[in-house]
Amino acid sequence: ASTLGESASAKGRYFGTAVAANHLGEAPYAATLNTEFNSVTPENEMKWDALEASRGSFTYGTADRIVSHAQSRGMKVRGHTLVWHSQLPGWVGSLGAGDLRTAMNNHITQVMRHYQGKIHSWDVVNEAFQDGSSGARRSSPFQDKLGNGFIEEAFRTARAADPAAKLCYNDYNTDGVNAKSNAVYAMVKDFKQRGVPIDCVGFQSHFNSQSPVPADYRQNLQRFADLGVDVQITELDIEGSGAAQASSYANVVQACLAVTRCTGITVWGVTDKYSWRASGTPLLFDGDYNKKPAYASTLAAL
Ligand code: XIL
Repeated sequence: ASTLGESASAKGRYFGTAVAANHLGEAPYAATLNTEFNSVTPENEMKWDALEASRGSFTYGTADRIVSHAQSRGMKVRGHTLVWHSQLPGWVGSLGAGDLRTAMNNHITQVMRHYQGKIHSWDVVNEAFQDGSSGARRSSPFQDKLGNGFIEEAFRTARAADPAAKLCYNDYNTDGVNAKSNAVYAMVKDFKQRGVPIDCVGFQSHFNSQSPVPADYRQNLQRFADLGVDVQITELDIEGSGAAQASSYANVVQACLAVTRCTGITVWGVTDKYSWRASGTPLLFDGDYNKKPAYASTLAAL
């Protein structure tokens, strides 16, 4: 196969990218997206501040443009993200516990119903754990006011809202075996044992020289898969260039393919020029949409 999407598809996986609605009108951006990728994640357009900037008033237009673009071309869509401490409108943080619980459950229910049947996997909760050795939960309005149970409640509400969607927990710095991934692992194991609905775990996989692809990446993906959930690489980007970057991308692809339940890979953007890593070159296409060495190694590894 000659494209990332086709090659991944031949292996029973998808190969996706984060997409920003405001770039869809740029011809080479759309051409690269449409040619190479068969799944999209809205980069910002499905975050709480984009969909419900004021309480109870939902604005779906921009996210809908991405979903229509994908659907009309047979691409899958990942939903990102329902409950997250960041890109959260101020009004949410001002609520007391009772109203916050109602607002969280209403947000999940309204958004999932709007997109019912159009989204294969949802990041129900994003980044709820702290970095470092504590394995503790991160402070957020949800954690601070609702306590540890907010994650379970969010997943139960999500299952009721759209029983067909795969429900994922998504985080970063959980890509290798470490204290943070151990804490997520313990949560997923507990959820599976108690019948709390969870179907998948997303590994963001933002790598750089401080945080390279872990040597135990495959092993970590496998231990989660062994709990009975799918695993997905959800926001892949790798700082660097040339052969070193190419080899890291190939390692990531090989790790996913070695894990039967690793169902797909999403890179966090089409082109280096629009990467959220403003000064870096972490993606597969350069600023002129030329294929980089990392593109070639990724395609070869698929
Ligand atoms: C980033 C986007 O790429 C940026 O455009 C935005 O300004 C901030 O968020 N983890 C996540 C993503 O789950 O939603 C983040 O996306 C990157 C880190």
